[in-house]
This record gives sequence, C-alpha cells and structure tokens, in this order.
Amino acid sequence: METCVAVVPGSFDPVTNGHVDIIERACKLFRVVHVAVAVNAAKEPTFTRDERVEMLRLACAHLPEVTIGTFDGLLADYAVAIRAGTIIRGLRAVSDFEYELQMAHTNRCLAPDIETVFVPTRTDYSFLSSSIVKEIARLGGSVEGLVPDGVRQRLREKFEQR
Ligand code: PNS
Repeated sequence: METCVAVVPGSFDPVTNGHVDIIERACKLFRVVHVAVAVNAAKEPTFTRDERVEMLRLACAHLPEVTIGTFDGLLADYAVAIRAGTIIRGLRAVSDFEYELQMAHTNRCLAPDIETVFVPTRTDYSFLSSSIVKEIARLGGSVEGLVPDGVRQRLREKFEQR
C-alpha cells in the first residue's frame, strides 16, 4: 500500500466547486490523487459515467497530480487494486459525519490497511452538493460560482433536453 497515493471517491453527478476544493487540498497532502467515479451508486445518476469523467477532467486540468478513473463495486477493493493508502472524504457539516463515519468503519473492516482521512470543506461551500446544483439548474437559476465552467454548460444542456 502506498501512503503517497490517495483516492477521492464519489458520484460526482456532477462535480461541484466543493469537490474541486477537496481535490485541490488532497493534492497538497499526497503525491498522487486518484479521483474515482462510482458507476454503480444506488441512485440513478443524471449524467452518464463518461459525462461525469469528462467534466472532472476539465475541472482538474490544472492539477498534474490528479488521475481519474471509474469503479463498479466496492470502494475498498478498488483502493487496494490501485494501491491507494488513503481514502479522502470531504465533510461539509456535522450532519455528514454519521454516514461518513459508518462508511469509514466499513471500508476499514474490508481493507484494514487503508486509512480514511476527512477534509473539512471551505465554509463557502458548506451548503453545496451535486443535488443542490441540479435543483437550481432544473429550475432555471444560476449556478455561477458553484460549479466549474464546463459543468455550467452541461447542466444547461441536460435540463433543456427534458
Ligand atoms: O459522492 P457520494 O455519492 O457521497 O459518494 C459515495 C460513494 C460512491 C463514495 C460510496 O457510496 C461508495 O463508496 N460506493 C461504493 C460501494 C461501497 O464500497 N460500499 C461500501 C462502503 S459504504
């Protein structure tokens, strides 16, 4: 297990500026940061796997430490397969903590050598989620400052199609 490799997993449906903030900060802590898009999340995603990966590629283009991949199955298995020593998760508020702690314990049970590190989000993004930006976009509001530029256009196109 390599402690210099971290994985930042998520649905990224779509990536928000809150995600990018966590990824940027992970890059200050780790030599390689692998962003892992969950394919088989319980919820039906709005964006396809390829769309989510492409939006992440654009959003992380300024970060040479970042690689992007997808996984379909257990995160713990994927982290072991890519030799990540650390799973990074952002924490926005205390309300996130219960689920995140349960997930960290589960992943520790499945892969005891992998540590979970929680990174608190910047306060300006503490309310932000992919669901919130989709709700704003669906109802015709502005998501400027909430998502990377490429994502704004994608959201517009996605909700115009409906
Ligand atoms: O961005 P999200 O939706 O909060 O990310 C959650 C995610 C995808 C990281 C989590 O659901 C996950 O790891 N799914 C993969 C399946 C898994 O490993 N489940 C056991 C740990 S709870």
